[in-house]
Amino acid sequence: MASGRKTCQSLSPRRMVMSAARQRWRLLGQVLARKRESRPFRSEKHCASTRKFISFGLLSTTHLDTDDEFNSWYRYTCQDVTEFSVDIRQLTGPMGIEELIGFNNTGNVCVWPSEEVLTYHCLKHKNSFRNKTVCELGGGMTCLAGISIAAFCEAKEVLLTDGNEISVKNVHPIIKRNHSTFGSTKVTTRVIKWDKDNKYGDIAGYFDHIICADCLFFEQFQEDLLHVIYTLLKPEGLVTVFAPCRGNTLEQFCEMAIDGFVVERTDNYDQTVWEKHLQAKEKEHDIYIEDRHYPVMIILRKLKVTPHRLHVQAANQG
Ligand SMILES: C[S@@+](CC[C@H](N)C(=O)[O-])C[C@H]1O[C@@H](n2cnc3c(N)ncnc32)[C@H](O)[C@@H]1O
Repeated sequence: MASGRKTCQSLSPRRMVMSAARQRWRLLGQVLARKRESRPFRSEKHCASTRKFISFGLLSTTHLDTDDEFNSWYRYTCQDVTEFSVDIRQLTGPMGIEELIGFNNTGNVCVWPSEEVLTYHCLKHKNSFRNKTVCELGGGMTCLAGISIAAFCEAKEVLLTDGNEISVKNVHPIIKRNHSTFGSTKVTTRVIKWDKDNKYGDIAGYFDHIICADCLFFEQFQEDLLHVIYTLLKPEGLVTVFAPCRGNTLEQFCEMAIDGFVVERTDNYDQTVWEKHLQAKEKEHDIYIEDRHYPVMIILRKLKVTPHRLHVQAANQG
């Protein structure tokens, strides 16, 4: 400690600043030079948290081809749902500067286990999407669950969204490549940023079903996320969310949601997923941390009355 302090004191303030700046540039250079993980599921290397668990192994992936050095195509299948198959393009090249300093980039890193579990859940409950209008929020660079519904569940319409433009740009070729599997389902993608001041014009009140994976840990956006969900959902619509607890963030989201929704939390929602979870706890206990890795299922249904907050606002105005 003492020698460290002495070294610092021996530097002029300007040199200290340059030294810190140089360190930042070196770090940035390292990140820019680094390639994204070429496997489809999450890799530890590029994620900000210390998480090392990659997937529950509910879906299988086969590497197909690449368009260029910046991406890879994978075929996703599911042992338990044999007729299912989709081709997914995953970004694998080095991260650009705009990704590092721009909008939240967690959806361009990998397919997270909550998205894997959401996909598996949707495949196993395909009938609940038949002839429905479906929207995925925060789907990341693959919108895997939404595209799987489009390819497999005979939905009426599927809108795949994320707030990150790079993610949504990657979803366009995914839609194109899987087009022949959609049947009469209309599939589109667009950038949707969660914003409590946005009325979401053409799509307000349009969706029977909204899905979302691993998007609850942005505490500063929870209210915005609840607003967009409430606004886009039909009065009798249903929302399926999968997310790990991540401290008290999931709990906090549910607390906020009770203002506008009937909130149902289920931890053990599927025997296969539960067994995978117990196995991971036992066999991978050095890397598997329930709080960070196990996706809890939250179902939201709109309350029939106006949300509490809107009552308060109206009372204040009156
Ligand atoms: C952890 S990633 C999850 C991505 C994907 N659902 C998955 O599980 O693989 C969180 C996603 O939320 C999106 N996101 C974060 N804040 C957002 C906001 N304010 N508006 C819209 N999307 C946002 C990010 O762009 C990112 O794709």
